[in-house]
Amino acid sequence: MIWIERDARVAALHEELLEIEQRLIPTGLHLFGRAAELHEKADLLRAVAMFDRPEHGTRSLPSLIAEALGLDADATTSRAADTTELVDEIVSQAVRQFCDQGVQPASTWLKLRAGVDQSKSLPTFRLLAQISEQLDLNHEIESLMSALRGRYIEPGPGADIVQNPLVLPTGRNTHAVNPYSIPSRTAFLRAKATAQALLDRYVAEHGRYPRALALVLWGLDNIKTQGEGVAQALWLLGVRPVRDALNRATDVEVIPLAELKRPRMDVVITVSGIFRDLFAPTMALLDKAVRRVATLDEPAEMNYLRRNVLEQIDRATLNFDDAVTRVFSNAPGSYGTNVNFMVIESQWDSAAALGDLFVTRKCFAYGRKSDGRMIEGHEAKTLMDEALTRVEATYQNIDSFEVGITDVDHYFEYLGGISRAVETRTNCRPSIYLADSLAAQTRVRSLEETIRLETRARTLNPKWYEGMLRHGFRGVAEIENHVTNTFGWSATADAVDPWIYTEIAQTFLLDPVMYERLRELNPDSLRSLAERLFETHERGFWNPNEEILERLRDVMNELQRMQTA
Ligand code: BEZ
Ligand code: MG
Repeated sequence: MIWIERDARVAALHEELLEIEQRLIPTGLHLFGRAAELHEKADLLRAVAMFDRPEHGTRSLPSLIAEALGLDADATTSRAADTTELVDEIVSQAVRQFCDQGVQPASTWLKLRAGVDQSKSLPTFRLLAQISEQLDLNHEIESLMSALRGRYIEPGPGADIVQNPLVLPTGRNTHAVNPYSIPSRTAFLRAKATAQALLDRYVAEHGRYPRALALVLWGLDNIKTQGEGVAQALWLLGVRPVRDALNRATDVEVIPLAELKRPRMDVVITVSGIFRDLFAPTMALLDKAVRRVATLDEPAEMNYLRRNVLEQIDRATLNFDDAVTRVFSNAPGSYGTNVNFMVIESQWDSAAALGDLFVTRKCFAYGRKSDGRMIEGHEAKTLMDEALTRVEATYQNIDSFEVGITDVDHYFEYLGGISRAVETRTNCRPSIYLADSLAAQTRVRSLEETIRLETRARTLNPKWYEGMLRHGFRGVAEIENHVTNTFGWSATADAVDPWIYTEIAQTFLLDPVMYERLRELNPDSLRSLAERLFETHERGFWNPNEEILERLRDVMNELQRMQTA
């Protein structure tokens, strides 16, 4: 028994290591007007080759290889990690062959190495060739000049290269999507598995479904994924979009409980200002879905939304329209939560202040009342407070490998902000989850797991920070930003393991060679980094040993002296 357990632990560890190793990370900042270098290109092409692309008539290299070798790529046995590793190694070599020699030789190599039928691999390599060519083109400077002269710039879709290679070449005028097409059929299909994985994860941890979930939806993400976040919300409610004669998703159809095979969830949906501006019809669709589900004649234990709405009508003496309010955003014309500014400027005394600010900024309701009147950004703080009091899980879908949750301050301002708001309204910290909708198979992770993964793949990864440091001054600022954004997850969600701060201190401050390099390049950012670590300690998120504390004080003193000298 002990052996089996030990093997299982080793297999799990192995899988985690592979996950970190294979995580696609930016290895430097984009230089405006400059085409990708060969090694960046190889990494991108490899990521592109990981997905089946029916719209281009191409299959993913892993699926072709697994099929040809007779391997079950989806197996979840202890051998799965070995299989994945073997397949990934062949994919990497095939992409290298392609970069060095081109389409035909790569396809021939793959036939010899893994027995993949060339008629199947050629379309994939041809697609890679097309993308590779477009990566070499760069019209960014010309386009900028055209824009400054008020001239025409060719439009292109918004997404990242892995999701939609048609975004290339860069330097075009990014356009959004037709909001009525949201969610696309593909997005709705993919969202089914993600929503299920989210609920499975919660049930595995708690033995039951959450009373309600709070979801964060962003505009750019739903452009890039054609509405996967929206589709996940619809799945949680147990409805599917219905298209009208003009193919516009303007209505929903209830998925019967017999088909859903689980209760309908209650979802409190907070959307960004950008989402509100871009997706008015989608906001209406979400509100319609919530109202439809709340009026279904179903047993309370199979329809959590209805159960909660009835309870709100009963206990909080709300009318139906108020009790069913679930779609919130900023006031019209306003954007963001400001939670990030409050954290970055160290302007908060109690944790509750961060959640309260979130609600103050985001408590504007959108939808349509039972009598048909529109609600367009009507302030509804008590209704949002009320809706949040039943939330036990918070969630956001991550759409892109380009931007991770410690790269920018927006993830902690939104997902962190709402999680803190829930915590102070329920006296219980919600379970916080994220999903990678960028992988072929979506993975749901806890916030803590995601922070560990991103810290290992980025902030503490020499490939990442050396890539940043190639940019000198700006690179140090990027490292400091990551530390601040990591701190943002402590401030809003207590989600950062103390070892992370210890390793950051050791890597950037205690290592004398690294410290000197950073000090030379950008003493200002280095001082901010040291001060932020000190604040982390002062606020009780980290309890470093005396040696580290001493060093932090020394560094702050030295850099302070430098600045005043
Ligand atoms: C959005 O796409 O909605 C968004 C982008 C950046 C920050 C917050 C929201
Ligand atoms: Mg900054």
